[in-house]
Amino acid sequence: MSACLWLVVPAAGCGSRMKAARPKQYLELAGRPVIQHTLSRLHGALPAAKLCLCLDDNDVYFDPSWVPFSPWQRVSGGVERMDSVLNALQAIGSKARSDDIVLVHDIARPCVLPADLERLLDAVQRGPAGALLAAPVADTMKRDNGAGHVLRSEPRDGLWHALTPQGFRYALLRRALEQAKATGQQVTDDASAVEALGLSPELVVGRRDNIKITHPEDLGLATHILVAQRASDYSF
Ligand code: C5P
Repeated sequence: MSACLWLVVPAAGCGSRMKAARPKQYLELAGRPVIQHTLSRLHGALPAAKLCLCLDDNDVYFDPSWVPFSPWQRVSGGVERMDSVLNALQAIGSKARSDDIVLVHDIARPCVLPADLERLLDAVQRGPAGALLAAPVADTMKRDNGAGHVLRSEPRDGLWHALTPQGFRYALLRRALEQAKATGQQVTDDASAVEALGLSPELVVGRRDNIKITHPEDLGLATHILVAQRASDYSF
């Protein structure tokens, strides 16, 4: 039997940096909520994946008709993103095989394109340490002194923005996140937990327009990106 593909989508954040009345995944973007765009992009490229969607237990905005996957399952979100992802991995524990592939994608990235998803999946299938979409840093990087002034410039050579999806074999990702949890390590992405095991996930160059909606101005930016992507006739 060949390995299954699981899709874990953490969507249990409250998005406090957006300063909006509802979590950012429920804000309207080009006529539909962000969550619907993201799930529809993922489904377009990976229709056979088994979806595990992490939602806050007290979420009053979610509408199951937005989920194009069948079957799919809802999992309780945790305190931090890593807790939400770990909840999902535990929830599928009786069904997932250790060599099954798990792609984790933030719900707040609605502009991900099929070609990036396919290249990432190829890399995850090839390598033992998993892989992540990433974009090389383009700007000059400054470190602050904690008081709003520059302490020093940081060389940008070799620096990357970590995007999602990030993909790993099931057993590796679960072990990595469980160890991060046990050692009190706060990881903001999945690759960090795998790195802490001494492994080196592959950096797969991803498109820079795969933005994570985080700040108020990102919603307008994402709207323009979606329009430009459609005008360029990408297949969705
Ligand atoms: O807050 P941030 O944008 O870094 O969150 C990244 C992703 O993790 C979002 O999709 C968010 O909904 C999700 N998240 C979660 N559970 C949390 C915190 C964040 O599923 N406790």
